[in-house]
Amino acid sequence: MARSPEPKSSEITRERDYLDRRELLSTAAKFTATSLLTGGALWGLAGGVRSPTQSQGRSAATPLLASRSEAPFSVDEEPTSERNVTTYNNFYELGLSKEDPARLAGSLKTRPWTVVVDGLVNKPTTFGIDDLLTRFPLEERVYRFRCVEAWSMVIPWVGFPLAALLQAVEPQGSAKHVAFTTLLDPKQLPGQARAVLPWPYVEGLRLDEALHPLTLLSVGLYGKTLLGQNGAPIRLVVPWKYGFKSIKSVVRITLLEAQPPTTWALAAPSEYGFFANVNPAVDHPRWSQASERRIGELSRRDTLPFNGYGDQVASLYAGLDLSRNF
Ligand code: MTE
Repeated sequence: MARSPEPKSSEITRERDYLDRRELLSTAAKFTATSLLTGGALWGLAGGVRSPTQSQGRSAATPLLASRSEAPFSVDEEPTSERNVTTYNNFYELGLSKEDPARLAGSLKTRPWTVVVDGLVNKPTTFGIDDLLTRFPLEERVYRFRCVEAWSMVIPWVGFPLAALLQAVEPQGSAKHVAFTTLLDPKQLPGQARAVLPWPYVEGLRLDEALHPLTLLSVGLYGKTLLGQNGAPIRLVVPWKYGFKSIKSVVRITLLEAQPPTTWALAAPSEYGFFANVNPAVDHPRWSQASERRIGELSRRDTLPFNGYGDQVASLYAGLDLSRNF
């Protein structure tokens, strides 16, 4: 995310086909400088993750049965190609370049896998991933996905509403927030051996955001199970927020009263906030958020408030100053 959002016109092929190490090192240096400037910890210089592991192609995925959700839960826009969705990724635990996660995801083992749901709930439960897949009806939802780096995609996710899971564990009245945690295991996620971010990756939502019907726990895309690079076996998708809120490979969901810490706000608090709602009116300190590059298209398009989901979610933020609560 510390990378420039403005790749050159040949960017997609360039980024996929090889990694410019000088660019990577200067990114890492910038990131370290940001950490210093913002008073954060001085994390080690990122050198990329280079262990030879099996890459994850679509043959590693298995079909999933899901019913298609229509508007307002699906947009009528051309989905980004499956190849781009599965080879142009951000997953820093699997490397820093866009093509590293697909190349290195073979080390992530998704069975057995459990998700602990605990904290301020009446029925704390540890769910096996296969229980989740059968217990909650799966839907296909075609969502816009907008990264804070100013690129975007349209992704046909398969999953179920987070609200269904939360209702099953019965939140207590004092619960106001939900914290999410990614697997911590440097053997499976070798990028965690390097201190480019504080690990494990953590994210959070207000409880009303978490219960919003658009908020999805995704277990697949393009009708098949998720691949490691996309956050297998289960990840969050919050389509009106910048992509970094959509935490991957989740192992714990905890209901809390207080607002939980979140990885990018810990790393660079002046650049990334807790809310992270897509907002073309509030620029990132180092680049504009007014427009975006849809992966697979040449021209830029205007970025929409709340990523185009304003009718459904703007009321959640009535009375909140969104330029301060960014
Ligand atoms: N989750 C974890 N655990 N680690 C990460 O590095 N990157 C985030 C988000 N979730 C990230 C993560 C960012 S910056 C983006 S844009 C999206 O994942 C990218 O999701 P995708 O690769 O499936 O498109």
